[in-house]
Amino acid sequence: MLHLVDVDDFSKETVLKIIKDAKSFKIKLPPKLLSNKLIITLFFEPSTRTRSSFEVAAKRLGADVVHLDPAKSSTKKGETLEDTFANLCAMNPDGVIIRHTQDESAKVLADMKLVPVINAGTGKNAHPTQALLDIFTIYEHFNGDIEGKNITIIGDIANSRVAGSNIKLLQTMGLNVTLVAPKEFMPQTSLPNFENLEQGIENADIIMSLRAQLERHKKPIFDDYGEYAKHYCIQPKHIEGKSIAVMHPGPVMRNIDISDEVLASNKSLVLEQVSNGVYVRMAVLKHLLLDNA
Ligand code: CP
Repeated sequence: MLHLVDVDDFSKETVLKIIKDAKSFKIKLPPKLLSNKLIITLFFEPSTRTRSSFEVAAKRLGADVVHLDPAKSSTKKGETLEDTFANLCAMNPDGVIIRHTQDESAKVLADMKLVPVINAGTGKNAHPTQALLDIFTIYEHFNGDIEGKNITIIGDIANSRVAGSNIKLLQTMGLNVTLVAPKEFMPQTSLPNFENLEQGIENADIIMSLRAQLERHKKPIFDDYGEYAKHYCIQPKHIEGKSIAVMHPGPVMRNIDISDEVLASNKSLVLEQVSNGVYVRMAVLKHLLLDNA
């Protein structure tokens, strides 16, 4: 039984297979490969993109999808996550997709070995399908020529699960990763890192901006995000005259993370990332629930 708890569950070869399948699904929707499968989605944190993207992906492949809303579930009566999961698994789903506040939650459920578990974002450590859709978007943008490309990740890196998974996967796939953040948002790292945005993006082929993870800050880190934006918001002056792609996993804090003008520019891949998320999640579901069932 295979799970996707974080990107290191997939080898480089598997990631290339996911990219290949996602590309073929983007060119032509496949037949209903998962028509006899049942998938349960379990989101303990809000989501716009990931939940709907997984559900669209599953339905495009013909799977049935059941969503359990934790706010209206028996977790509110004190049932543990493990018991909730075991009870759902007693209904014989083929996979469970989970988003949770706790870093270890997807691994805890995967270790129960009841059904393939797919991590849709846990705590501040892992968001593997975001990293996979990001590498797919980069791969497409550069026609597969990604080895040695320079990517700079900017923002609240210390608290971002997108950064956690991406830093690992981007390096596995041969990209050079640089980090830019104020010291409050910078993790312990051996990667090249800068407080100054201009210095950090000097050689960048790709900028990946991240929002401040306000919901994960125990107390406010900055009183004034307008002041933060003066130093870290991606503005036209940062991309003009350069061959550079701008990415963001969403939700974007407009004019704090990225300016309206940059978001609207043809250098922004932000909505392309969302489109690609459906094809990548189709490929992940196929890999876990069909090819390795
Ligand atoms: N990128 C991402 O995880 O977005 P959502 O929180 O809307 O799912």
